[in-house]
Amino acid sequence: MDFPVAKCAVLSLLGKVSPRELPKLIQWLKTTNDFDELVWENNDVILQNIAEDLRSCMPMDGMLDSEHRAIEKMQQNPVPTIHVDAFLYCDDFVDTLCEEGKMSRHYCATCGSHQIAPLEFLSHSFSRVELKFLYQHVLPDLTGKILIDTGSRLGAVLFGVIHADVCTQASLLQAADVIVLNNVFEYFLEETEQSRAWIYISNNVRKKGTFLVTVPSLEESLHSLQTGIDLSQWVKEVQLDYNVYIGKETDEESLSHIHLYQVL
Ligand SMILES: C[S@@+](CC[C@H](N)C(=O)[O-])C[C@H]1O[C@@H](n2cnc3c(N)ncnc32)[C@H](O)[C@@H]1O
Repeated sequence: MDFPVAKCAVLSLLGKVSPRELPKLIQWLKTTNDFDELVWENNDVILQNIAEDLRSCMPMDGMLDSEHRAIEKMQQNPVPTIHVDAFLYCDDFVDTLCEEGKMSRHYCATCGSHQIAPLEFLSHSFSRVELKFLYQHVLPDLTGKILIDTGSRLGAVLFGVIHADVCTQASLLQAADVIVLNNVFEYFLEETEQSRAWIYISNNVRKKGTFLVTVPSLEESLHSLQTGIDLSQWVKEVQLDYNVYIGKETDEESLSHIHLYQVL
């Protein structure tokens, strides 16, 4: 059954519900988690198992040796910020850890008092909901395509390894059909190095039709940098529909940071 037919069937069913019961039913439709098992697939189980395995062998705030700059940047944030990898720790799991007293979503603003303020959470990986959005709603069929995840970290997007600075991979970038750039340089490189990396990418990603998936938008990544890149001559943005249901942890605001572009 496709969406228009299913929608008609649901509306027809709602039309048969007694008017007194209808508000309760609509409230249940808006708030229930009962639909989650309908969108839960074998792939979700596999991803969850990978995350569980990685959690058991990594410290909660584990960072790679190459990521020290990101820790420094987090420490400069005026709001106390902790790094929690969203691929390994979904919101439900963080809630459980908070209930067990092993993690907190708040910090004490004045030690000893009841004044508490929310901690800022920062992830350096896509969450599983974001990954599902990426593969099911953003990217085209990838059969036979070359996909690069720039800075693959735990391998959440792509579990395959070329271990190198992307700025040494000209021929790979030139051949790619899809390039994922999730918060790739902002936290990890000085501004001059960021500019150099974006210029390298824009010089080498020239094949017409190549897709770029970026977080945040290219405009936001480039606006404070001196790159001389004219986006309007390089790419066009493909509008995405963020209003999708991927499970109870679907967060339209976090999905809306994902942008898709195509090389002109
Ligand atoms: C925010 S993480 C993204 C992880 C993963 N792609 C994901 O989306 O879940 C960005 C990664 O890019 C790496 N990175 C930064 N500059 C890079 C460069 N020039 N070449 C390759 N990787 C780089 C960082 O070390 C970091 O591990």
